[in-house]
Amino acid sequence: MIVNTLILLVVIGLVVLFGWLTYRAIRAKKLWVKIVGGLGAGLMTLLFAAIAITGGKGFAAAYFPGADPAPELTVAMTPEQIARGEYLVNLSCIGCHAAVDGAGNPTEQHPLTGGWNIAAAEGFGFMGNMVTENLTPGGKLGDYSDGELFRVMRHSINQEGDLIPFMDLMPYKALSDDDTEAIIAYLRSLPAAESDIETGSNLKFLGLAMKGAGMLPAESGAASVQAPAEGVTAEYGAYVAIFADCSGCHGPDVTGVAPSPGDPGTPNPRPLISELTQAEFFTMMRSGIKPDGTAFPDTMPWQIAAGLHDDDLAALYVYLTAPVK
Ligand code: HEC
Ligand code: HEC
Repeated sequence: MIVNTLILLVVIGLVVLFGWLTYRAIRAKKLWVKIVGGLGAGLMTLLFAAIAITGGKGFAAAYFPGADPAPELTVAMTPEQIARGEYLVNLSCIGCHAAVDGAGNPTEQHPLTGGWNIAAAEGFGFMGNMVTENLTPGGKLGDYSDGELFRVMRHSINQEGDLIPFMDLMPYKALSDDDTEAIIAYLRSLPAAESDIETGSNLKFLGLAMKGAGMLPAESGAASVQAPAEGVTAEYGAYVAIFADCSGCHGPDVTGVAPSPGDPGTPNPRPLISELTQAEFFTMMRSGIKPDGTAFPDTMPWQIAAGLHDDDLAALYVYLTAPVK
């Protein structure tokens, strides 16, 4: 934050400097100084003003998000909650928050000590670091209240009240209050595991400016969220797509994400799934082999999705073969 504050102040200083130079050039006696100097300095003023505005906006969003205080909450920690939380965490969180191997890559294995620098891995390291947190009580979450943990998952606000930029992009704000509490119960029940990898995110000024320019859009979560009634329905399938993370990679409606610079995108899985019977869909999702005999590549984490209960996978099938609303 200190470095970004300094950069923001320097950029604002440059706006003032070039603004002043523009003013001087326009008032100069020589016509060519007026035109060349005024235009040059004027353009520089506009350029730095644009940087100051987008950077300042991102700065405000990250460090002064206007967060509500964490809710008063004590999670009951019933065995049912812990079991539900285990199911959800092993679907939704383990892909990113698992322990990393010697090369810094995630292992999809417990303990959930994190340490994966996802910004560097996904080719946007120029924006800063985003290193996944240790989710066991051995990490900083051990000092979080239940309400603070709830606020992380619902509003992507950390204990200090700052926005955590990566989690903000994830769909977990749509998880119901009950499921959010179940996840908290399960994380609390884990044995404490430690890791000395530095975790957390620090966006560089460029990252803040991109956020300020609206290039990292995210919606804020509602105060209270209820899940649709559990069942083999398209509506519940859409909810499964959130906690099974399909929508995290394949877009909010699971219709694919177009490639963009630095992001290879993901295909729309619906056309393929619509050609399959439910039994064929189950086989594909649990074997990792598509009906044409080719395997899912490593970028498609089918091993995690294979842990879905039958009813949830069936609901997902109904949802992914129904017309997109
Ligand atoms: C796609 C990767 C990804 C997934 C999936 C993911 N996280 Fe994270 N998480 C991150 C990253 C990266 C950070 C580091 C901070 C940041 O930039 O958001 C983080 C940080 C956190 C933090 C620390 C917040 C703080 O106060 O600093 C918590 C708690 C957390 N995640 C919980 C979860 C839970 C619970 C799930 C599953 C429901 C989950 N995460 C799924 C990437 C992920
Ligand atoms: C971490 C990101 C990620 C998650 C999570 C994810 N996918 Fe994928 N998926 C991909 C990528 C990337 C591909 C494309 C791989 C390739 O063929 O290059 C893919 C491919 C697919 C395909 C094959 C599409 C085709 O026409 O070949 C299907 C079907 C699919 N995903 C379904 C799902 C479902 C259902 C879920 C949720 C249970 C899911 N995916 C979760 C990244 C993801």
